[in-house]
Amino acid sequence: MPAIVLVGAQWGDEGKGKATDALGHRVDYVVKYNGGNNAGHTVVVGGEKYALHLLPSGILTPGCTPVIGNGVVIDLSVLFQEIEGLTTRGVDCSKLRISANAHVIAPYNRTIDKVTERFLGKRKIGTTGRGVGPTYADKMNRVGIRVQDLFDEHILAQKVEGALMQKNHLLVKVYNRREITVAEVVEELLSYTERLRPMVADVSLELGQALDREETVLFEGGQATLLDVDHGTYPFVTSSNPTSAGACTGSGVPPTRIDRVIGVVKAYATRVGEGPFPTELFDADGERLRDVGHEYGTTTGRPRRCGWYDAPVARYASRINGVTDFVLTKLDVLTGFERLPVCVAYDVDGVRTPEMPLTQTDFHHAKPVYEYFDGWEDDISGARSFEDLPKNAQTYVLALEEMSGSRISAVGVGPDRDATVVRHDMLG
Ligand code: GDP
Ligand code: IMO
Ligand code: MG
Repeated sequence: MPAIVLVGAQWGDEGKGKATDALGHRVDYVVKYNGGNNAGHTVVVGGEKYALHLLPSGILTPGCTPVIGNGVVIDLSVLFQEIEGLTTRGVDCSKLRISANAHVIAPYNRTIDKVTERFLGKRKIGTTGRGVGPTYADKMNRVGIRVQDLFDEHILAQKVEGALMQKNHLLVKVYNRREITVAEVVEELLSYTERLRPMVADVSLELGQALDREETVLFEGGQATLLDVDHGTYPFVTSSNPTSAGACTGSGVPPTRIDRVIGVVKAYATRVGEGPFPTELFDADGERLRDVGHEYGTTTGRPRRCGWYDAPVARYASRINGVTDFVLTKLDVLTGFERLPVCVAYDVDGVRTPEMPLTQTDFHHAKPVYEYFDGWEDDISGARSFEDLPKNAQTYVLALEEMSGSRISAVGVGPDRDATVVRHDMLG
């Protein structure tokens, strides 16, 4: 089963990093295909905690080749800091491959991300402030800087000059910031060129050849379905395509080669930043989910907004991504709740709506219609087979499976790599 895409089914932070890492020993290549260091994946291996932002989680598996595809935007200072940090801890990063077509987050894009948010005021998106949105905007406007530009000093200077012509007007006249010089940007970017050179590769070609050899390639999505710029809760989204189709455009591997799509979904729901979230809780239950689930951003440390499981969102993710298997994460966090509400449909201005509404206005108005399930008291973190779970936990999982559009093949019961109940072989 060679090509598998793994995506977030909600608003991010579902536990994609742990799921990727858990499959790692059976995977030859792990490819990051979208986003940048706005992502934050916490992976726990034998009690050791790793926080990854730009590097694919497969980097923690010895023997697995990590790849950064053309769809990613790269902050080079973060890249080399992350490589250095991991190398110091004994993780081998020498096999990393980076697409020559990936875009680079230029220093001015970080500035523009932050000042734009400030100017939006109460209409802000709540971005991670890493320059991700402005860098994708440059890509679409055809004034972006790509990895390959760092190997031609003349072209690089020309492109930076082109990009800064407009941006300096914006920075100085609108945002009241200092002018950025072409020389300072070029100098910073060129300082990475020699370290980058051995990693740069024709990623599409290498992955195509690996698939021809029947090797297993796992595409690891950053962010999630409802943060997708096309299919998410626009404008409260990120600026890339985290959904499964993005794996193809973001790596140069065609749809005909994708065999399976794994959707990672939390047993409840969280969101960071602004935007609609129908099942959001503002009470003690929400606080408890945040505390027990340690729901604080890996990237920005912001408290995550917490709420109950939303089945129409999971069904939507199943359809948009073509999910073949769900990994249901953090079931252990629900232990001890007396009853567990699950959103089965929305009430939109008095009309029962079973699927994602057609318009954002309606989604902003959507009130959850809940069905209630009995909770369980026993600690489930040691469960390793479905039968180890208390009856009520089994009922909850089976009900979610029934409502969410695809089978639930694994259930997370703790942060550690091994804390998972496997129901079906996802790669077989
Ligand atoms: P990602 O961005 O989708 O990779 O998710 P994050 O790493 O941002 O957030 C998920 C958090 O939940 C991390 O701290 C994980 O260590 C943790 N986690 C993942 N799966 C489980 C699980 O099944 N149970 C518990 N308790 N924690 C989990
Ligand atoms: P992982 O991969 C959760 C959110 C931000 C903001 C919006 C746009 O860890 O699941 P951006 O900086 O991308 O322009 O911000 O998207 N966001 C995430 N939320 N998890 C993430 O990544 C996110 N990456 C971006 O909070 O609302
Ligand atoms: Mg995260």
